Amino acid sequence: MNTDLSSDIVLKVNAVDLGYGSLQVVFNASIEVRKGELVGLVGGNGSGKSTILRAVSGMIKPWAGQILFKGEEISGLEPHEMAERGLAHVPMGRQLFPNLTVEDNILLGSYLPRLRARRNVNLEKVYALFPDLKKLSTLTAGSLSGGQQQMVAIGRALMLEPDLFILDEPSLGLSPLYVKQVMHAIRKLADLGFPVLLVEQNIKQVLQFSHRAYVLENGRLVLDGPSSELQGHPMIKKAYLGL
Ligand SMILES: Nc1ncnc2c1ncn2[C@@H]1O[C@H](COP(=O)(O)OP(=O)(O)OP(=O)(O)O)[C@@H](O)[C@H]1O
Ligand SMILES: [Mg+2]
Repeated sequence: MNTDLSSDIVLKVNAVDLGYGSLQVVFNASIEVRKGELVGLVGGNGSGKSTILRAVSGMIKPWAGQILFKGEEISGLEPHEMAERGLAHVPMGRQLFPNLTVEDNILLGSYLPRLRARRNVNLEKVYALFPDLKKLSTLTAGSLSGGQQQMVAIGRALMLEPDLFILDEPSLGLSPLYVKQVMHAIRKLADLGFPVLLVEQNIKQVLQFSHRAYVLENGRLVLDGPSSELQGHPMIKKAYLGL
């Protein structure tokens, strides 16, 4: 049996401080994501969730601490270098091309030269994961519902053959029905073996679908653990679930 769990760690955020200009917004944060795990990062407005994702994807540099991706330090890399190394960042707001078809939007995910040869194979994988997208493939992305657009964005990211997905508030602005669909789709990704770091304000949904979660308050991680345990945690029940 392989008892060396560290070999399974895909992402290790180690004691990072983050900020903008002279304003520090994240303090000494540490997060790990292992192979096959769906990990939630939850917290209220302005708590620093997107800032942590921006540091992971290379958009901002840590003031202190390290970020390791597949065992290598990545703190100084640019976003395009992170994508080449296998990071798929699905940003808030989805950023699709509304006038292009669903299929063309998905195909844009395989822009890297090393992926072009496997474009059609990967497209079929996306359709196998989200059969609805195949039916919608010739429609323009702008004509889809918010939930369907989110599937397109995840499908496009899948074309990158990523080693890690990071998703920023995929349920934002969606009706409850679509929130559930999107959460199911994200869980499917993890069940297929893709590690996912999922940022959400919707803590109830995240704790239902994720394996583990971290709770961020005002830039500090205040709680983490298996999601099933956090669901019953007095602090979570009181502060977030209104119980
Ligand atoms: N580009 C920026 N320049 C200066 N301050 C910023 C910038 N982006 C975010 N901040 C500040 O950093 C803090 C954390 O913001 P961040 O976007 O990481 O929070 P969040 O947890 O993602 O919130 P939300 O749930 O609203 O998306 C906030 O106080 C915000 O005002
Ligand atoms: Mg945010």
